[in-house]
Amino acid sequence: MLKVTDMAVSYGQFQALHGISLAVKKNQIVSLIGANGAGKSTTLMAISGMVPKDSGEVLLDGEPITDLKPHFISRRRVAHVPEGRHVFPKLSVEDNLLTGALADTTITKAVERQRLEEMYALFPRLKERRRQNGGTLSGGEQQMLAIGRAMMSDPELVMLDEPSMGLAPVLVEEIFALILRIKASGKTVLLIEQNAIMALQIADYAYVLELGNITLQGTGRELLGNEEVKRAYLGI
Ligand SMILES: Nc1ncnc2c1ncn2[C@@H]1O[C@H](COP(=O)(O)OP(=O)(O)OP(=O)(O)O)[C@@H](O)[C@H]1O
Ligand SMILES: [Mg+2]
Repeated sequence: MLKVTDMAVSYGQFQALHGISLAVKKNQIVSLIGANGAGKSTTLMAISGMVPKDSGEVLLDGEPITDLKPHFISRRRVAHVPEGRHVFPKLSVEDNLLTGALADTTITKAVERQRLEEMYALFPRLKERRRQNGGTLSGGEQQMLAIGRAMMSDPELVMLDEPSMGLAPVLVEEIFALILRIKASGKTVLLIEQNAIMALQIADYAYVLELGNITLQGTGRELLGNEEVKRAYLGI
């Protein structure tokens, strides 16, 4: 579904990605793990068109999206939930969710309503709090809202940048369960996570990024059993 070939990205003189290649198949969960500063967020931002590429190619369902602007890429049903919680603090939970459907310019009111109900089924907690302002939700609830908002555009590919960041263990479990539900609903997920063990456990396939290079790849199970990965990322 997504194929990235030799993608390089620089910030001024600093080269953050040195020609990386990766592939995400339809309905898979693909995890990207790596140390702080390895280039994980840069990879997602480059795919979604938020940072320019020096070189390389990005294909979505076989068609190039390499040089498209971010809003055209999101119209191709690619959603990106960036690092940190970007909810609109003064908008209600429901209005935050509705902003997510704006990317879909052809949506009818009826479909919008239906998607909202789907989101409330996926996140019952957001339904309970739908009139509350986004800014007053707990950290975990804000993270769910950010994911729910991205899902409102009914994406095929959902890219999540550290969705469990800063959450208590029980909420981390909830986020991972949610990612599995997103997959079960037929969608494809590209996931960045510091929580490498869980990220590899749910991954169909995974990549290790080090200083802007992909140094290891394999099924989640293969990487969980890899001695180098165990030592460097799993702490076991
Ligand atoms: N706007 C920018 N200008 C200059 N350098 C940047 C910029 N954004 C990122 N970088 C640098 O690029 C490198 C990769 O950053 P990136 O955010 O992709 O890492 P990451 O793997 O997501 O790290 P983390 O796990 O800490 O989120 C880092 O060294 C970072 O300092
Ligand atoms: Mg990052």
